Amino acid sequence: MFQHSLLGERTNLFKMVTGMVRTLIAGNWKMNGLKSSLSEVDAVITQLGDFPDAADCLICPPATLVVPMQERAGARLKVGAQSCHPEAFGAFTGDLSAEQLKDAGASYVIVGHSERRSEHGERSAYVQEQAHACLRAGIVPIVCVGESFAQRQRGETKDTVIRILRKSLPTLGSSDSIVVAYEPLWAIGTGLVPSDEEIAEVHQVIRDLLVELYQDRGADLRILYGGSMKPSNAAEILAIKNVNGGLIGGASLKAADFMAIYAAAVA
Ligand code: PGA
Repeated sequence: MFQHSLLGERTNLFKMVTGMVRTLIAGNWKMNGLKSSLSEVDAVITQLGDFPDAADCLICPPATLVVPMQERAGARLKVGAQSCHPEAFGAFTGDLSAEQLKDAGASYVIVGHSERRSEHGERSAYVQEQAHACLRAGIVPIVCVGESFAQRQRGETKDTVIRILRKSLPTLGSSDSIVVAYEPLWAIGTGLVPSDEEIAEVHQVIRDLLVELYQDRGADLRILYGGSMKPSNAAEILAIKNVNGGLIGGASLKAADFMAIYAAAVA
């Protein structure tokens, strides 16, 4: 408890001193949602108006809902997608390019999510190509990374995260931006969450890597935490140093839960 409040105080001080990094609360709907689910989006949009515009709010629905979501989104809600093909167009049946997603209204695309890496065999070199495709199209890629439970138990968390990120992160042009999402594989959809200290440790090594790769700009890029973030733990996680937002799966599907997390971000 004492350690936690210390962490929180340091974080608030950090945020006051830097004042630069705007929190991003991002929902990843995965393969959930029909047109009827847009009522949840309407509720999110209405409720956003009750909060100060002090953090970005994003939903990445399945591709079928990007257009109708964007049409109703207004200024406060951003719309994203969950994957893209590296090429701009061509004979790639079933795929969507970053340009097409941009055309549909997406301003962010999640790349390298562990479910894509495991279900579709997407490796880091491919993830890097996807990230470059996003930048080419004027979209911000959210590059995901995380360790397995076995890797954590073997004490390989930091090495794993850095190794994957070095291969996955794109080269940045002067006007480009990226987001990194740290998502421990064992925390996704399980209800399990690392301790505050464990999250702080990983986010710090990611911050150090971003500064190494992108110099000063690396200090301001957002690093999200993802994996069983919910209303009951959001405030605590968002107070950790170098946690600049959340990537939220299950708890983003209901407007009430998602907005409770947003409320923690702007409190
Ligand atoms: P979860 O998913 O919040 O349901 O754990 C997070 C994610 O996979 O992005």
